[in-house]
Amino acid sequence: MPRHVAIIMDGNGRWAAARGLPRVEGHRRGVEALRRTVRAATELGISVLTIFSFSSENWSRPPSEIGDLMALLRRFIRKDLAELHESNVRVRIVGEREGLERDICLLLQEAEDLTRGNTGLTLVVAFNYGARQEIARAAQLLAIEVAEGRLSAADISPELLGSHLHAPDIPDPDVIIRTSGEQRLSNFLLWQAAYSELVFVPINWPDFDRAALEGAIAEYRRRERRFGGLVANTGS
Ligand code: IPE
Ligand code: IPE
Ligand code: MG
Repeated sequence: MPRHVAIIMDGNGRWAAARGLPRVEGHRRGVEALRRTVRAATELGISVLTIFSFSSENWSRPPSEIGDLMALLRRFIRKDLAELHESNVRVRIVGEREGLERDICLLLQEAEDLTRGNTGLTLVVAFNYGARQEIARAAQLLAIEVAEGRLSAADISPELLGSHLHAPDIPDPDVIIRTSGEQRLSNFLLWQAAYSELVFVPINWPDFDRAALEGAIAEYRRRERRFGGLVANTGS
């Protein structure tokens, strides 16, 4: 079983368009798929589930769609937080908090605070998240330490930079799943994805369920991870 599964939840709009429905209906059904997936991940014994719910670049969508997505986030936290807490889920948020509406910041904080002591599934919500922004922020923090004389530039290593990312204690994802058939990362976990297996699933996110998750994990388990080295029995 992979320890850390990350998912790019894509295809809500196409799911809706294929049914002649407004895009927001796809996002609503996407929240239901998320509920199913969190439950399935818990049952399958996955330790960490990271979900890409809103990217730094998604601000370029029409204001009405952004409003719909923010409303769904608010509703998700208000409605589901108690149940997540009861299920021993620990919620973590990664992404830029600055620039978010104040009530959203408070809800995100509440979700993290309430579930901080939980020991079951860790649900990492990437919200207003962009990997380049995350790496640039880490570089800024390191530059400040150098400027203040607390760090020598020569001591900056991958490990040190990694320790300045949003959630440095979370292990890198073993597998990144993207739904909708698109085969790109769209600025998701670029640093952490160095050796992640990528699995692209040809269904839209609102149709994702436990069987689809198990299928993606089965595909991951067929992969041979090498991390740049050699695997037993392939040398001669
Ligand atoms: C994913 O579905 C949800 C978000 C990016 C917030 P999309 O809204 O990207 O759906 P498509 O890709 O247009 O079908
Ligand atoms: C990635 O999907 C972001 C999320 C799933 C939140 P997008 O739909 O925004 O990505 P592109 O624009 O197709 O690359
Ligand atoms: Mg999309």
